[in-house]
Amino acid sequence: MIKLALFAGDGIGSEVAGEAVNVLKFLFDSNSVRYEIEEDLVGGASYDEYKKPITEKALKLAKDADAVIFGAVGGPKWESLPIELRPEKALLTLRYDLELYANLRPARIYDELIDASPLKKEVVQGTDMMIVRELTGGIYFGQPRGVFDLDDGQKKGVNTLVYTTKEIERIAKIAFEIARKRRKKVLSVDKANVLECTELWRNVVAGVAKDYKDVELTNMYVDNCSMQLIRQPKSFDVIVTTNMFGDILSDESSMVAGSIGMLPSASLNGKKGMYEPIHGSAPDIAGLNKANPLAAILSVAMMLRYSFDMDNLAEKIENAVERVIKNGYRTADIYSNAAGTKLTGTKEMGMAVIEELKK
Ligand code: IPM
Ligand code: MG
Repeated sequence: MIKLALFAGDGIGSEVAGEAVNVLKFLFDSNSVRYEIEEDLVGGASYDEYKKPITEKALKLAKDADAVIFGAVGGPKWESLPIELRPEKALLTLRYDLELYANLRPARIYDELIDASPLKKEVVQGTDMMIVRELTGGIYFGQPRGVFDLDDGQKKGVNTLVYTTKEIERIAKIAFEIARKRRKKVLSVDKANVLECTELWRNVVAGVAKDYKDVELTNMYVDNCSMQLIRQPKSFDVIVTTNMFGDILSDESSMVAGSIGMLPSASLNGKKGMYEPIHGSAPDIAGLNKANPLAAILSVAMMLRYSFDMDNLAEKIENAVERVIKNGYRTADIYSNAAGTKLTGTKEMGMAVIEELKK
């Protein structure tokens, strides 16, 4: 029996996660897979109800589950709360407490969506990369942190970038393992010319590379990488990087891929994982049946692959999404007025994927 926790969260979270769960249920039911899904509040929705972004009960639900399906959190309503109470804290707590240190963010361009990318066709065509972002360390979690009073009446804001050998080794191994199943290239991204912590990063990754002689390792500074991502996105295979650099570079890679509404993610510790679209809660379009559910649907495909070794079912979803796009279905974020395309709502997009799965 597969046990899933579902946290839809805020904004468009419930709409996109809802479609992802519909797709999953259809697939499980038609393949006689036994499962149970238990749901709870997180983020702003949890704050409104319990005055905290995540409760002990929700955290326990996540810990007891085989995998977690996550929508999105946040919104203007909660932006002025202290950082500890903000919706984003739910996400960070889940990542940290479940030790989901490996965040996989694939970015590829579908030929039919090339027009949705702000970059030129010849630049983006064929782009297919995997960002492996360290997710439970670095400046997101380092101590000391906070805003402190100085004697002269000023304040001082502090965050700390810290990585240990072990933390770097384990994420590097994941990157090399993934590269082995792809085009066998790992690019490690750091700022080793300025930050000692990432000089250690570079050295430790080089050490791990010795066990992966079949994989080519290169290094790049993060500023240069952000330029090369736009200049020649096709040249990237697997990128491994720190928590904050990965946060930034993955948003950038989404534009290369057309829309952030297309990009799924997996946050893993072994088989245990949390699966979420990389986009946020998009409060401006929440409740309007406008959001693109494909990132959430593709996240469920990643769950089938990485948590349950059901590659075959994962491919079914990925192929169905591809066909739905080929057939011209477009939510607003990927709509370009091209011949043969139809502007599609969130629900209708989810239904179109299920229709393809029935074929
Ligand atoms: C992401 C998001 C989160 C992050 C926020 C919402 C805390 O931007 O998953 O990329 O910074 O990690
Ligand atoms: Mg981000």
